[in-house]
Amino acid sequence: MRYRSDHITPLASSLVWAGVAALGYAGVKAFLSLRRDAENDVDAFKDKVAIVTGGASGIGRALCEELGRRGAVVGVADVNAAGAGQVASAITASGGRARAVHLDVSQVKDVRQFIDEMIAEHGRLDYMFNNAGIAIAGEVRDLDLEHWGRMLDVNLWGIIHGTTAAYQVMSKQGFGHIVNTASAGGLIPTPMLTTYATTKHAVMGLSTSLRIEAAALGVKVSVACPGLTQTGLFDTTVSVKVNLEKAISKLPFKIMDPADCARVILHGVVRNKAIIPITAHTRLTWWLYRLHPSLLNPPLYKMVAYVRASRSET
Ligand code: NAI
Repeated sequence: MRYRSDHITPLASSLVWAGVAALGYAGVKAFLSLRRDAENDVDAFKDKVAIVTGGASGIGRALCEELGRRGAVVGVADVNAAGAGQVASAITASGGRARAVHLDVSQVKDVRQFIDEMIAEHGRLDYMFNNAGIAIAGEVRDLDLEHWGRMLDVNLWGIIHGTTAAYQVMSKQGFGHIVNTASAGGLIPTPMLTTYATTKHAVMGLSTSLRIEAAALGVKVSVACPGLTQTGLFDTTVSVKVNLEKAISKLPFKIMDPADCARVILHGVVRNKAIIPITAHTRLTWWLYRLHPSLLNPPLYKMVAYVRASRSET
């Protein structure tokens, strides 16, 4: 059967108009839902009581500032007492409510004490952001057990201390949200940062398992996985026989701003996401790894060879 062009034209034009109408409808729906999301995001933290560990710098600082702006009472906890004090003062100076504390997450009594103080003062704990972390770069053959111990103490025990202490309180309250900071390095292999990846993969297991266990008790658990973010971590990372700066300069993607990272985390928290992958690169590599783990091997082997080429023997 042959179509005449004067039949096709009205048909094609109806199809085009139907397409335009469908796109318009989808656009308006998306716009309204984004507006609703943005409104929910702004109100979600109003008058809530939140603790952020590692709040003096980087992602933790940005979380404190954003929570303060959105009306939360913020407990800024950090081993860097002066830095925590500055963050809390800046929040209060702009009309928010915050309090700083010197706290070492590797010391369980510090963590418990601060949670108890916040509850004594405010009657409850709504959010516990276990965010403090450190990094050590280097080949496993160059690291000693002290490196491993330091990483586990801060990045794993620190999270365990914050999670268990908050969970005990929140499960009794019947509500609360624990938000742990892992990393893109907790989703995929991260050679040359193996001690770091070990702790971050453990944080993933802790958070996703507890999430299921805690749900019926009213407690939510999420885990945030930032990609590379411009923070103090770049200055404090201990590099053992590797040139981290050189390796980072080779990376083919943009480094994220901590304020943007904090906003993505809070957006995921409001939606009670189990895992909050941050940056498009994190989402892509995680997806590829789940699709087939060996898909990431070529760039990872290449990265190891590149970093190893600048390995110093000192
Ligand atoms: P940062 O170095 O800017 O901030 C970390 C904060 O934790 C600092 O204020 C530091 O004083 C504090 N801290 C360190 N040890 C502590 C301890 N024992 N007790 C209490 N506070 C302690 O680093 P950043 O990047 O903001 O790190 C925050 C979290 O984000 C960490 O868990 C890190 O592993 C994670 N992350 C960071 C990425 C990045 O590219 N910057 C990427 C993926 C995850």
